[in-house]
Amino acid sequence: MQEKNKLGDRGKMQWRSCSTAETEELGRRLGRLLRGGEVIAMFGGLGMGKTAFVRGLARGLQVPEGEVSSPTFALVHSYEGRLTLHHFDMYRVDGWDDLYSTGFFDYLDSNAVLAVEWSENIEAALPENALYLEFARGDSDGERLLTLSGPAQVLADLQARLEK
Ligand SMILES: Nc1ncnc2c1ncn2[C@@H]1O[C@H](COP(=O)(O)OP(=O)(O)OP(=O)(O)O)[C@@H](O)[C@H]1O
Ligand SMILES: [Mg+2]
Repeated sequence: MQEKNKLGDRGKMQWRSCSTAETEELGRRLGRLLRGGEVIAMFGGLGMGKTAFVRGLARGLQVPEGEVSSPTFALVHSYEGRLTLHHFDMYRVDGWDDLYSTGFFDYLDSNAVLAVEWSENIEAALPENALYLEFARGDSDGERLLTLSGPAQVLADLQARLEK
């Protein structure tokens, strides 16, 4: 799959997390603001905290308490909260046929929230309005830098509501 290169006017927000709990809390804060139909495309490699972030997203979407684990084998886990959350792990997804079989495109046309681990593997299939969430390592073992980017308008709206 090819990378998309025309992404238009983009906005960006950055956070530093110093623990798993902080990453979950960032997810929870974003989850509270979602309105449905968002695609959160996560990038960054092994063990960066993507699943931890989704655990927070689920809390923020009022998914009842329970285990949120990586859908490494199932490819997708779905949760019901105030919105439906589909949590994908694209680690093993290779090519369009594989991706079709996950239900990704069906869910895209719904009002659900899609959180996608290993978006590197399906980047060409991401919609234009996808929010990119990139994880990078910080200076110490427990530090992660999270960068959220997406359409400028959407980011500005999220930022304004996050600060309230
Ligand atoms: N600031 C941090 N935020 C999140 N996780 C952290 C942080 N610092 C250390 N960790 C550790 O990194 C690991 C993150 O695990 P997690 O399963 O959330 O990552 P992942 O990106 O989903 O990995 P995978 O690519 O295997 O799906 C955990 O072992 C956690 O303890
Ligand atoms: Mg994971």
